[in-house]
Amino acid sequence: MITFFDHLAVEEIGRWRDLLEKEVRPYLQEDRAYYASQYRQVCWLEEQWNPATRTLTSALSVPRLWQLLQSRFPWANIGLVSYGNMGIKPHRDDSYCTSLAGGVNLGSCIFEYWDDRTTPGTIDYKKLKLESGEVYTFNAKCKHAASSCANDRWIINVWKKKLK
Ligand SMILES: [Fe+2]
Repeated sequence: MITFFDHLAVEEIGRWRDLLEKEVRPYLQEDRAYYASQYRQVCWLEEQWNPATRTLTSALSVPRLWQLLQSRFPWANIGLVSYGNMGIKPHRDDSYCTSLAGGVNLGSCIFEYWDDRTTPGTIDYKKLKLESGEVYTFNAKCKHAASSCANDRWIINVWKKKLK
């Protein structure tokens, strides 16, 4: 299930974008997830998932940004910022996280979501046009994808780590 629970006002979107420009842009790195169509510009927050070694290591801390995220997603303890128009192919999030995921979408995109968990045995497919400022939760273990993203789109995703 995908649940939209807040829509940031224009001024608020500006504040988030300023913060990302100042505090996160210098740390963006190119990353090629196996499900990304090309290199994505990303920066992990608090902790970083390393798929090759299947380990978590420490990542960037931005207290002002983390505070904003915690006010919407108090359960979150790991995050990923992605920037640009590259989008992402259909995938399920990896084993570092539980099923509860959050998103703050800052730039338009098409979000596709195949919900095969809410009603077992059925797939509820949704294709949504997201505008800047959408704040939502979704099930990270349902297949999801983003395409037709604005060139200057920031997307912040957060999760709760799955502890071994
Ligand atoms: Fe994902």
